[in-house]
Amino acid sequence: SGKKEQELELQHAREQIGEAGRLLAAGGVVAFPTETVYGLGADARNTASVEAVFAAKGRPSDNPLIVHIADMGQLDGLVTEVNETARRLMKAFWPGPLTVVLPVAEGAVSPRVTAGLSTVGVRMPAHDVALQLIAAAGCPVAAPSANRSGRPSPTLASHVGEDLDGRIDGIVDGGPTGVGLESTVVEVGRDGAVTVLRPGGITAEQLARFAASVRLDAALQRAGGGSADIPAPRAPGMKYTHYAPQGAMRIVSGPAPEAVAARIQAELDAAAQRGETTGVLAFDEHIAAYRADLVLSLGSLAALETAAHRLYAALRRFDDRGVTYIMAESCPEDGLGSAVMNRLLKAAGHQVIYV
Ligand code: TXA
Ligand code: MG
Repeated sequence: SGKKEQELELQHAREQIGEAGRLLAAGGVVAFPTETVYGLGADARNTASVEAVFAAKGRPSDNPLIVHIADMGQLDGLVTEVNETARRLMKAFWPGPLTVVLPVAEGAVSPRVTAGLSTVGVRMPAHDVALQLIAAAGCPVAAPSANRSGRPSPTLASHVGEDLDGRIDGIVDGGPTGVGLESTVVEVGRDGAVTVLRPGGITAEQLARFAASVRLDAALQRAGGGSADIPAPRAPGMKYTHYAPQGAMRIVSGPAPEAVAARIQAELDAAAQRGETTGVLAFDEHIAAYRADLVLSLGSLAALETAAHRLYAALRRFDDRGVTYIMAESCPEDGLGSAVMNRLLKAAGHQVIYV
C-alpha cells in the first residue's frame, strides 16, 4: 500500500499544482516552494496581480521582484541581451539558486516588477513543484519571498501561513525548502565581470569558475555596513532591514572561540538579570557551553549548508517563544558563509561585538 499511497500523493500534488497554475493565470497570488525559500507568485505581466503581491507583503514599491521561468524559451521574450558570461552562468547553475540581472525587454513585464529599472532579475528554480507550477501558469512568474516585509523568509508552508493567511489566494505546500536562504543575485558586465548584488545559494567561489572576475557589490563589502562612504546597494532590497526577529539581537565575533563563548554567556546572564527572555544561536562546536531560555543550533561550522537551512526557522522560533534578547555566533565569510553572515548581520541590525 506504500506504493498506492505514493501514487495518491503524487496525484494530489498534481491537482494542487494545476489549480494553483489556473489561479496564477487568472491573476491570482499564490505561494509556492522553491529550493531556496517559498515565493509569492503572480503573473509578471499583470500589473494588478503584481500590485497585489506588494500589498500582501507590505513591501516598499521601489524594491523590484525576481521573475521565475521554467525553461530557456521563456527567457527570450523577457530580456534584450544575454552576454557570453551570463549564458555560461545560466548553463552552469540553472535550474538553481542564481538570479541574473539582465536588460529587460520593453513591455515584457509590468513596470511594477522592475520598479522602474531598465533591468530584470531572472531565475529558473531547481524545484519540481515550482517548475511545474510556472509551466502550468503559462507565464513568467514574478515572486518575492513569501513573507511579510521585514520578517524572515519562509522555509516552510506554515511560515507563509503565519505571515500571509487571508491576504493571498493560495499556498502550494512542498514541504521544507532545501537551501534555506535566497538565491544569489548577480549582474554581469559587458566585459564578463560578475558583481554579486546579494550573496546566496551559489557561492562566489562557484561563480568564479565560470567568470573572468567576481566581486561583491561595494555596498556589501564592509560587514559592519552602513557608513557614509559606502554607496547604496545596487539590489534595492539590500538596503532594508530584513529578517529581523522581534527581540534584540547581537553577534559576537572574534578569533578565539573561548573568548566569544565567554562574552556571549556574560551578555546572556546580564540580560537574564534584567528579566529578559534569552536566546542563543550557535554552532555545534560550542553549543554545550551556553545557558539560555532557548538555545538553537546552526549545525556544525564544518557544514554551513545546515546553518543556511536552519537560520530563518530559528529566527521565527525565537519570536514564537517570546525571546527578547538573542546572542549569535558568527562564521567565516567564505563559501556559503558569506550568505549566512549577510543574513545574520541583517537580522542583528549589524550590531556586532568584537572580542
Ligand atoms: O531565492 C530567491 O531569490 C527567492 C525565491 C522565491 O526565488 N526570491 C527572493 O525574492 O528572494 P525577493 O524579492 O525577496 O528578493 C529579490 C532581491 C531583492 O534584493 C531585489 O532588490 C533584487 O533581488 N532585485 C530584483 N530585481 C533586481 C534588479 N533588476 N536589479 C537589482 N536587484 C534586483
Ligand atoms: Mg525577500
